[in-house]
Amino acid sequence: KIVIAKAYSSSANLGAGFDILAMAHDAFHDVVEISSQPSSSLQVQVEANGVPKEPERNSASFALMKMLEEFGIKAKVKVKVNKGVPPGLGMGSSGASAAAAVVGGNELFNLGLSKDDLVKFAMQGEIASSGSPHPDNVAASVVGGVVAVISGEPVRVSEIPINLDFSLILFIPKVAIESKTKKAREMVPKQIELQKLVKNSRYLSSLILGLIKGDRDLVRLGLNDDIVERSRESLFPYYWKLKEEVIKYNAIGACVSGAGPTIAVFVDEKSERDEIIKRGLKICESYGYECNFKDAKVARGAWVE
Ligand code: HSE
Repeated sequence: KIVIAKAYSSSANLGAGFDILAMAHDAFHDVVEISSQPSSSLQVQVEANGVPKEPERNSASFALMKMLEEFGIKAKVKVKVNKGVPPGLGMGSSGASAAAAVVGGNELFNLGLSKDDLVKFAMQGEIASSGSPHPDNVAASVVGGVVAVISGEPVRVSEIPINLDFSLILFIPKVAIESKTKKAREMVPKQIELQKLVKNSRYLSSLILGLIKGDRDLVRLGLNDDIVERSRESLFPYYWKLKEEVIKYNAIGACVSGAGPTIAVFVDEKSERDEIIKRGLKICESYGYECNFKDAKVARGAWVE
């Protein structure tokens, strides 16, 4: 038996929504092929390009293994990961592989799992790559759209109904930092002042309300974060200047994509797209980071071909 599952890239956090919000986008996608043969024990084998091949270190096989173990499935399973989402750039690369793997495994072994359960298993894959099971990227890649993780234990995610016509321009530096997410998570403060929490919660409310109401001004205000983005700014020194500049050309707003260094600029028909791209690339370069750009739209969740 064999299934082929695919999942899109994602941008997590979206300003103040650290470990809460993420958006699936069609910039890149991963393809995971899973086949199984009867066996007296669970054995998992990995084939992959550009990511670890040890089953415990690969986010797709690790997530799948955890899921099959939970159901006591005994089989010889082969996982072939074809990476389309570049790793180490803040676009949910490990999450996309894990999402495709669990959605594929769910189909192959006929498990009938809910979206929440699929996210629960997929987030185990993030342990393999970053050492911590953050659920935001996998939630977006599994469910699609813009999602909010509303509970960690038990895992519950909810898709935000979007009534704003927008797309992203992703500014993607030509660097990839290995195990960057792990390092980036260590930079985040362990404790914060109440006033900062209030301010950030206001941003988060504004973003969610703006997406639901179709109000670009609320989205612009919401795409801010005074806690996590600031603690990590050494990873993307061009960000503040880029953000300030693209807003001059009527971008809706900008945020760091996940833990960076990619920056997501939100645009709509009022935005001066060509100027935003030209100036954005120039600013990155002026900080010594050569970048590519990529257009992206909100995308669907993981699916089986
Ligand atoms: N919420 C996670 C973080 C996303 O910012 O560390 C990592 O892609």
